[in-house]
Amino acid sequence: MAHTVFVPKESEANETRVAASPETVKRMKGLGLEVVVEKGAGLASRIADADFANAGATLGTPSAAKTADIVLKVRRPSDKEIAGYKKGALVIASMDPYGHESVVAAMGAAGLSAFAMEFMPRITRAQVMDVLSSQANLAGYRAVIDAATEYDRAMPMMMTAAGTVPAARVFVMGAGVAGLQAIATARRLGAAVSATDVRPAAKEQVASLGAKFIAVEDEEFKAAETAGGYAKEMSKEYQAKQAALVAEHIAKQDIVITTALIPGRPAPRLISAAMVKSMKPGSIIVDLAVERGGNVEGARAGEIVDMDGVRIIGHLNVAGRIPASASLLYAKNLYAFLETMVDKEKGEAAVNAEDELVKATLLTHGGQVVHANFKDAAPAGTAAAPKAKPAARKPAARKKPAKAAAPAKTEGNS
Ligand code: NAI
Repeated sequence: MAHTVFVPKESEANETRVAASPETVKRMKGLGLEVVVEKGAGLASRIADADFANAGATLGTPSAAKTADIVLKVRRPSDKEIAGYKKGALVIASMDPYGHESVVAAMGAAGLSAFAMEFMPRITRAQVMDVLSSQANLAGYRAVIDAATEYDRAMPMMMTAAGTVPAARVFVMGAGVAGLQAIATARRLGAAVSATDVRPAAKEQVASLGAKFIAVEDEEFKAAETAGGYAKEMSKEYQAKQAALVAEHIAKQDIVITTALIPGRPAPRLISAAMVKSMKPGSIIVDLAVERGGNVEGARAGEIVDMDGVRIIGHLNVAGRIPASASLLYAKNLYAFLETMVDKEKGEAAVNAEDELVKATLLTHGGQVVHANFKDAAPAGTAAAPKAKPAARKPAARKKPAKAAAPAKTEGNS
């Protein structure tokens, strides 16, 4: 019998995104699956119930979760939601599992097969499933738009009869997916852009976008990239040298966008309160890492903090601030993954435990926590780990990026 996919309205306050789109509903139907979408699930992303219904979905209530074989979500389910799922159901979401080991254990105990989309390996085959990239790209764009909105001056240089307005100086810290998009967006708006990163590979990408690269390029820097293309945590000595260089540079900037993350660890602290105060009043800082502890001293999650006239923007869920775009891409990421796990003849989920995508993302299965990074972290007393060792706070090893995720080169005017 055909399996049923349930797409709930996200329960978390302020979550504007939804895990399916009319296009992915049509495609799921094409795989032989039945699809139930909770009424109102797409409204915040400008997807009307009728759009889902026209694509072939049945509209339902939260209780549809009880009989669903597959649940597609944006966020990790709450305890209450977990309790309402059918044993054996596949739950696919951005699980954000570090620091939430008890929820991972609860999903295991509930007999769910829970998949963490953010653990998708960064290999060519899985690029279309990369939620980190699709959402970070939009967040990088939105961070610049948010900064420009708060900024009291114009971004581009304007030469007018009444005088010249100088171009805004924008400094982007962390040139991964979000940072590169922030650079490209700031350049499109006519700002003079500089950027920094600890990964040497970023230098060329920053330059190709027309921004100036600022970094301490010592021996440690030259070796500072994991095989997976991610940043390593830098030594105290390097951090001190980096901080000195950054301190000097920041004092001259109008807008700073910070995006620096290290997978599975708190965000590195890059800007001290003294550096914030060295900026001119009216300057703007956007801390995109605020949900992971923040790159900026004084940043507060969900708030705009004014520190001596410098405003530090700490919006939560920045991709969710452009929900219609974010949902379309996120839904496509999830669909692309789900498609690899469906037997199209039967319209049923058929998970291949040997598939490297499954191995990398599967957190729980068959009543157990199965992911290597969480197996030993489950609270004592759960089925998963009677002899718990400290959690290995590292994500799954990732392969060398197959393709640079840099946005296309843009032509700026600074
Ligand atoms: P991320 O979100 O983990 O971190 C953001 C950026 O912060 C990274 O560039 C990181 O190097 C930087 N950073 C960390 N500590 C820092 C510090 N102390 N100072 C300055 N910068 C610091 O990274 P993201 O955006 O996920 O990208 C990581 C890499 O993966 C990049 O090379 C990217 O191009 C690559 N990638 C490959 C993909 C593929 O092949 N499918 C898809 C997406 C990204």
